[in-house]
Amino acid sequence: MAASAEAQQQPPVVVVDDLHVKYQVYASGKSAGDAGIRGLLKRGARGLQEVHALKGVSFVAHKNESIGIIGSNGSGKSTLLRAITGLTPPSSGAVYASSRPNLLGVGAALINDVSGNDNITLGCLALGYSRDEIEELRPKIIEFSELQEFIDFPMRTYSSGMSARLKFAIAASKQHDILIVDEALAVGDAKFRARSEARIREIRENAGTVFLVSHSMKSIRDTCNRSIWIEKGVLRLDGPTADVVKAYEASRK
Ligand SMILES: Nc1ncnc2c1ncn2[C@@H]1O[C@H](COP(=O)(O)OP(=O)(O)OP(=O)(O)O)[C@@H](O)[C@H]1O
Ligand SMILES: [Mg+2]
Repeated sequence: MAASAEAQQQPPVVVVDDLHVKYQVYASGKSAGDAGIRGLLKRGARGLQEVHALKGVSFVAHKNESIGIIGSNGSGKSTLLRAITGLTPPSSGAVYASSRPNLLGVGAALINDVSGNDNITLGCLALGYSRDEIEELRPKIIEFSELQEFIDFPMRTYSSGMSARLKFAIAASKQHDILIVDEALAVGDAKFRARSEARIREIRENAGTVFLVSHSMKSIRDTCNRSIWIEKGVLRLDGPTADVVKAYEASRK
């Protein structure tokens, strides 16, 4: 499963060109405590600090590729994914995408106080399904989530793994052109993870491009033909998963 010349011949789907992302953060200094709100306001720009989360990352993703994004905590992986979806603006450089990337996570459309079943409706509407399509998909989504017994309970009663299952089942019900998955598999149990990974492979085989952020090198090996290793906002290595994961693991010993 090498990031083959074959994949490179497929059309480009996402182009990341010298991407920089900087966050402005208000750091609370020593003076904040006693001075209260007034003090905070007065401190103004002095408390403003900049985090340079991505420092000139470039690569091209092609159709049919499944790309693992790896690196230690705070290295910039989620920032990269959010920049690809357009949620986080570049401070310089650019991201081009051939179609609108979907961040797995219809999460924003779901409501904790309504049932799993009603959340399927909400999530599917957010993905652009018609009412008829939703009713056709509903049993498949419930089956994939394995939440049959809980599907009429409010989502707030679900464990984090259970709500992650529901979100994954809704989002993965659709064939995506560009699917972006950030750690969504981490909370599921082993069996659910294996099925989710199989579904990700299926989406890729049907001519989608998948980005997967994970700290599980097993998930990355099982799912991704190519991997990109980011460290402290800099692209360290980009190539076949086997090589990149090996180098990453060696660096952590
Ligand atoms: N919304 C934000 N505002 C300010 N700084 C942020 C924000 N999001 C991320 N950062 C900073 O940007 C850097 C990269 O964070 P990012 O979340 O992209 O890392 P990550 O590789 O996804 O880490 P993890 O493996 O822990 O999920 C970190 O230094 C983080 O503190
Ligand atoms: Mg992250």
